[in-house]
Amino acid sequence: MNSKNIVILVSGRGSNLHAILKAYERERWPCKIAAVISNRPNCSALAIAKSAGIPTQVIDHAQYVDRKDFDAVLAESLDALAVDYVILAGFMRILTASFVNRFYGRLVNIHPSLLPSFPGLATHRAALAAGVKVHGCTIHFVSAEVDSGPIIAQASVPVFSDDTEEKLAARVLAQEHQILPAVIKALVENRVKLEQGRVTVEGMPEWVHL
Ligand code: GRF
Repeated sequence: MNSKNIVILVSGRGSNLHAILKAYERERWPCKIAAVISNRPNCSALAIAKSAGIPTQVIDHAQYVDRKDFDAVLAESLDALAVDYVILAGFMRILTASFVNRFYGRLVNIHPSLLPSFPGLATHRAALAAGVKVHGCTIHFVSAEVDSGPIIAQASVPVFSDDTEEKLAARVLAQEHQILPAVIKALVENRVKLEQGRVTVEGMPEWVHL
C-alpha cells in the first residue's frame, strides 16, 4: 500500500491534533504526517506538533489582505508537500470556493455538531438553546459552503437538562478525539469511498454512539 502524506491545519488549542498524533504513533498508520500548518503564529497546537517532532509551518493570515492570497500560499505549501489529505483540526478560517474545489475529496473537517444542524460558531450554546436531546460532532469532506459537504462519520452524545455549555462541549470533545483519528486511519488505509456526494467507510460504523 502506498503511504499517504497528510497535513493537519490548526489555529488554536490543538486537543484534536494531540489525539491524532497519539493514535498515529500508537497504531502505526501507513502515512506520514508531513506537516502541521497554522494560520496563527503562537497557538498551542503548534507547540504540540513541535514537541512531537512534526515539521510545522506558519502562514499568518494577518499578513494577507485578500483571502484568496492566503489560500494561494496555503495551496502552494500543500502541493510542495505532495499532500493526499488535508485535515482541518480546529482550523478557524473560511477557505475560498476555488481552494475548496481544488482540494475536493481530500479536504476533511471536524465540526462540533451533528450537521446539518448548527453550522458556524457557538454550536453547543445553539444546541442548548434549541433544546435538542442529542448533540455531537461530524467529520465531513469540505465543500464550498461553510460547514457542509459529504458526511464521513458522526458521533452523538446525550444532552442533559442540567447541562451547561462547558459540560456539553467537554462531552462532545471526548467523542471528537475518538472519531477524528478513526476517520484519518480509515482514509490512509483507503477504506473511505466518496461517490456521488455520499460516503461509505469500510470497517467503521456509519453512526457512532459512544
Ligand atoms: C473543536 O471543537 C473542533 O470541532 C472545532 O474547533 C475545536 C478545536 O479544538 N472545529 P482543538 O484545537 O482541537 O482543541
